[in-house]
Amino acid sequence: MSKDDGVDWAAYLEQFHAERAGAAEAVLSRAVGGDHSPYRWLARAVSVSATVVLDLACGSGPMSRELAQPGRTVIGLDLSAGELALAAQRSSGPWVRADALRLPVRDASVEVVTSSLGLVVAQPLGEVLAEVARVLRPGGVLAAIAPALRPLWPRDVELLTQVNARLRTRPQFPGPVELAGFTKTLQHHGLKRVEDARELYHFRIEGRVDAETMLRSLYLPTTRWSRVEAAIEYLEARVQRHGPVEIAIPMRRLVAIK
Ligand SMILES: C[S@@+](CC[C@H](N)C(=O)[O-])C[C@H]1O[C@@H](n2cnc3c(N)ncnc32)[C@H](O)[C@@H]1O
Repeated sequence: MSKDDGVDWAAYLEQFHAERAGAAEAVLSRAVGGDHSPYRWLARAVSVSATVVLDLACGSGPMSRELAQPGRTVIGLDLSAGELALAAQRSSGPWVRADALRLPVRDASVEVVTSSLGLVVAQPLGEVLAEVARVLRPGGVLAAIAPALRPLWPRDVELLTQVNARLRTRPQFPGPVELAGFTKTLQHHGLKRVEDARELYHFRIEGRVDAETMLRSLYLPTTRWSRVEAAIEYLEARVQRHGPVEIAIPMRRLVAIK
């Protein structure tokens, strides 16, 4: 279901990803939980025997690189020409420009569909999952990660509260918060949820450049740039006074089987 939040998400996303290609990768590739990034965590849900993987809403292509192995083809698919151009500079593809709502892929032809953040961005979720179910082979796997509200430590909450106070808004996604209704929608399309796990990642901010990298990666369709500047300046000043800070990024990983 799409949210009725008054935001023209199609126009916002088109401009955001044209102007800020690679913004998600710039943060998530440096976000650390234990010894790994969220991309590595998603890749761990993919069987080593999978030879064809479709990465939905691939952005600048981090999952294609994370999943690369001999004998495997990872097809990166995204709507944004800017993201795909950056992906093509970084690795060889294949890259496909298409809408997750109309996948140019044969029925029952894919072993695994992955998506990092795609399920909270490409909407409506029910239509995306219908397409995923159509292209997966019987026994095929959907593995996705999405931003979550928890887990968080008290010190994480304190820092996020300070940043959100400068923004006067919270980052948003086009899709439902915490992928509400996800399991029911999966079932409706013949997919069975087999895992629902959470992990906490942190992005380290050592100065203004890192603060800009973090803030520029967020969808803030109703926030004036002056508010974003205020949040960047807050982080910069805090680092100058107390040393590096770690911004929390709670993530959820969902795995389903057709
Ligand atoms: C937050 S970015 C995540 C990119 C990448 N997966 C990552 O984690 O670094 C979301 C991506 O979804 C893409 N996207 C949005 N709507 C889409 C749609 N309907 N079909 C395909 N891609 C879409 C955007 O162009 C963008 O690259």
